[in-house]
Amino acid sequence: MGLDGCPETPDRALRLITLRIQNMPFRDLMRLRRLDAVDLPRSRPDPDIGGCGHQILRPASRPSTGASVEHHPVVTREPTAPTGRGYRWYVGEDGDWSRVRDSALFPSRSQVLELAVELSRSVPGHVMEFGVWKGQSTRAIRDALWRASIWSPRQWTKRIYACDSFDGLPEGYEHLGAGTFATEVPRLIGVRIVQGFFEQSLTPALAQEVGRVSLVHLDADLFSATQTVLRWIDPLLSDGALLVFDEFGGEDPAEERALQEWLESTGRQVLLIGLFSREPSGGGDRTDRRAIFQVIGERPVPRLPSPLPVRLRRRLLSRW
Ligand SMILES: C[S@@+](CC[C@H](N)C(=O)[O-])C[C@H]1O[C@@H](n2cnc3c(N)ncnc32)[C@H](O)[C@@H]1O
Repeated sequence: MGLDGCPETPDRALRLITLRIQNMPFRDLMRLRRLDAVDLPRSRPDPDIGGCGHQILRPASRPSTGASVEHHPVVTREPTAPTGRGYRWYVGEDGDWSRVRDSALFPSRSQVLELAVELSRSVPGHVMEFGVWKGQSTRAIRDALWRASIWSPRQWTKRIYACDSFDGLPEGYEHLGAGTFATEVPRLIGVRIVQGFFEQSLTPALAQEVGRVSLVHLDADLFSATQTVLRWIDPLLSDGALLVFDEFGGEDPAEERALQEWLESTGRQVLLIGLFSREPSGGGDRTDRRAIFQVIGERPVPRLPSPLPVRLRRRLLSRW
């Protein structure tokens, strides 16, 4: 017997899915029930929207300048002022957060991470997170990966590596002092924890163990930490791998500077998939963003068809 005591369908894929759902913990099933099984929208180039359309970043020819890299904002057509066309965006202006905080809905971190997990389904390689703290974002990634595995069994082979010193920030960042975020190592079922400062923990042996990477969540705040991660992970990135930056703006756009430095020093190309407004990370009053980039390589990225038509997936879920 299958779901709700109905006779099991002869279709093998459905039977496998049914088995998977039956083996999921109740908590996850309840979450699953609330989830839409709809296809995610494809992003569309829009020349007018700074940061929401497609944008390929090409590295400049000059060599890397290291930590003192001169900062050119990645999103250059940022309409922070009235556009002269009768409308304006509120994106990262001083004081804009107080103006919009009660009038706007921002996608949560989990929603952005879930989108990234969903987009990276067909990309081969494991998932890595840098900056774990108590593991909230790690759990969001893990749960999204589990849910994606219901429809896309290949996801079961993806491991999650969560890297952090758990001693907090090694140096101050914006209003946060060194040592902020020091915590006990969180208990994260199904996740491989890599403990230590990145400068020591990101070793060639770890690179060999990981092999390839399909999704990277960068949330270490600091320029130095993000730079260390990008340099180490560069040879592991699959074509089409996704890079999610948690704080791509703010008063100190350190993650953006690190991305820029990495692009300039490696010649890599990335495509901006989306910028998502978010609350300011610190005490500031400037709307911050999360960003998703995709690594553009030589090979085409394979596309995974949905294993079941959306309607069927919905019907299956609606039985729960
Ligand atoms: C903003 S917190 C991460 C928040 C987390 N993603 C969450 O879901 O709440 C930043 C983390 O980066 C870690 N971190 C910063 N620099 C680091 C470094 N060089 N090596 C290891 N961990 C570092 C800190 O220990 C801290 O836990």
